[in-house]
Order: sequence, then C-alpha cells, then structure tokens
Amino acid sequence: MNRIFSGVQPTGNLHLGNYLGAIRNWVRLQKEFECIFCVVDMHAITVWQEPAALTASTREVAAAMIASGVDPKANIIFNQSQVSAHAELAWVFNCVARLGWLNRMTQFKEKAGKNRENASVGLYAYPNLMAADILLYKATHVPVGEDQKQHIELARDIAQKFNNDFKTELFPVPEPLILGAATRVMSLRDGTKKMSKSDPSEYSRIAMTDGPDEIAKKIRKAKTDPEPLPTDREGMTGRPEAANLIGIYAALSDSDVEDVVKKYGGEQFSTFKQHLADLAVSSLGPIGEEMKRLMADPGYVDSVLRDGAERARAIAEPIMREVHDVVGFLRP
Ligand code: AMP
Ligand code: TRP
Repeated sequence: MNRIFSGVQPTGNLHLGNYLGAIRNWVRLQKEFECIFCVVDMHAITVWQEPAALTASTREVAAAMIASGVDPKANIIFNQSQVSAHAELAWVFNCVARLGWLNRMTQFKEKAGKNRENASVGLYAYPNLMAADILLYKATHVPVGEDQKQHIELARDIAQKFNNDFKTELFPVPEPLILGAATRVMSLRDGTKKMSKSDPSEYSRIAMTDGPDEIAKKIRKAKTDPEPLPTDREGMTGRPEAANLIGIYAALSDSDVEDVVKKYGGEQFSTFKQHLADLAVSSLGPIGEEMKRLMADPGYVDSVLRDGAERARAIAEPIMREVHDVVGFLRP
C-alpha cells in the first residue's frame, strides 16, 4: 500500500517556494494516495521560536494547506507535537543513525553557521526526527522540494539499518517525490540563493498571504539581467534570475520551461514580468484570501488539527507497538 507523508515547519513567512515545491503538489497527490500532512512544530523549535508566534504559525501553515485545496476530511492534517510517538520513535532512531551520517547533512551546516558549538542538539538530530515522522506511518512516498532530498536519503538509510540490525522488514524504504517545474525556487533578489523564510528582505520572497499589489510589486522589482528572455533551455545557463522566473511561470501555469521559452523567448523582461505578475495574482490571490479567512477562525483550524491528530495516532499506535516488540522493549 502507498502512503504519503510530508511536513512544513511553522516558522512564519510561508512563501511561493513552499507552495510550488511542496503544498501545490500535495493537492494533486491526495487524489491518488492516502495522505498525511504535518505541521512540524517540534522541528521548528530546533531554533528559537517565540511561543505565541509558534502557535500562530502552526495555525497559518494548517490554513495554507486547507486554502491550497488539501481536503482535511479525506486526508490527515495535524501538528506533530499532538502525536507523542514522533518523539518516541525519534529517540530509537537517535540510536540507529550514526554520527558520521549526521555530520554530512548540509542543512545543519547552513543553519548552524560558524557558531556550531552553540547550535541546539535538536538541530543536529533534526533528520532523525524527520525519519521518525515518515516511518511512524510506514509512509512510502514523501513529496518535498529539492532541498530535502538529503534528509530523505538519511531516512532511507535509517529504515534500512533498522531493518537490518533487527532482522525485520518493519519499515518500507521511502521514496522522495520531487515534482513540478519549480522544485527549488530562488530568491527574487539573488538567483543563486534559495527563496527562504529567514531571508531578511521581504522582497526576496512572495508570501502566500501577499495581496495583488505586493505580488505585482515584488515581481516588478525582481532582479533580472539586461538581456531579453532566452529562446531555449540552454540560453538559461549562467542566467539564474531568468531561469528562476521562467521556472516559476512554468510551475504556476502547469507547463514546462520549454513551453515558456518558446512563448516568451526574445521578449523583454518588462513584458514577461507583467504576465508573470498576472498569473501569480490569479493563482495565489484566492489562496491568500482564504488563508486570512481561516486564520480569523482559529476554532475551526484547531478542530481540524485535533481531529487529524486523533486519526494520525490511530495509525501510529500499532506501528509503535511493533517497534517496541522488535527492539525488545517490555510493554504491558
Ligand atoms: P520548510 O519551510 O523548510 O518547512 O519547507 C517546507 C517544504 O517546502 C519542503 O518540502 C521544502 O522542500 C519546500 N521548500 C522550501 N523552500 C523551498 C524553495 N525555495 N523552493 C522549493 N521548495 C521549497
Ligand atoms: N524538514 C522539512 C523541511 O524543512 C520538514 C519536514 C519535517 C518534513 N518532517 C518531514 C518533510 C517529513 C517531509 C517529511 O522542509
């Protein structure tokens, strides 16, 4: 049986990269798979979060999922900390994963920066918790943006080592699903940097709650080079900003990069940006509006998360019992 698991951290500033790299693909996958979507608040606290902001961001991410078209009845939407088995399985995986494996994780190196000694232990063990998220439900497929590929590979290694060490076939080896024309959306200010929640410049990203004027303004101000648009895929080489805007257009219009360069090749950026802004406003505008409406009704969002957590627990509990038996933990 196939089962999808994916997560987004409630760390504020949800953006177009989160939408195109992850959430938008989930909306399609819900038709084919049993899906579990998680607001990973326990991952968020690996770096400092103001408690009130964490609560608000948790609701915001849930609202983004629902507003984008994820059906909370047909799927499970919940926040990680409501299902304590995530932490429990993560501990077992802390004892399966090797230090050498974690030492290779590029996201830790980026996030910890120069002052590694001062990074939280949680930030270092982050990928083990992520493996627990996925394997707690025996998920087979994990739709994410390009930046999470290395973490999924680690989850695969953990599943295999656990199965090997304990001579079991308890865990499936999960597959990443990296889909669409914009699996790595770049900053609008610098085409060599990933669009990220933590970039100090608001103009580097389009927020999922930005209104039409903000979206249009950010696209108009997006960095480009002085040449007209390239006429083929090869022409995008060495032009990261052009490649990024073309990729965003392709993803938002459900077409390929080839189609976009065929249509706009040789045009000036000013024309293309106008069309891209119209497209972005028409796709994101209604989602942002719906998110705001949902965030004004926290009672409803909380009830979705509570109901999701209950259903998630029902799947996780028997799997956790299997883990206890395999590991040799005595249980009542
Ligand atoms: P995060 O905000 O780090 O929790 O990421 C949530 C999801 O969005 C993950 O699947 C990421 O891979 C995806 N994502 C984050 N930033 C980007 C980006 N700039 N481009 C594409 N996908 C992204
Ligand atoms: N680490 C992911 C990110 O920052 C979020 C995440 C946590 C996740 N657990 C997961 C994604 C499990 C997929 C599956 O983007």
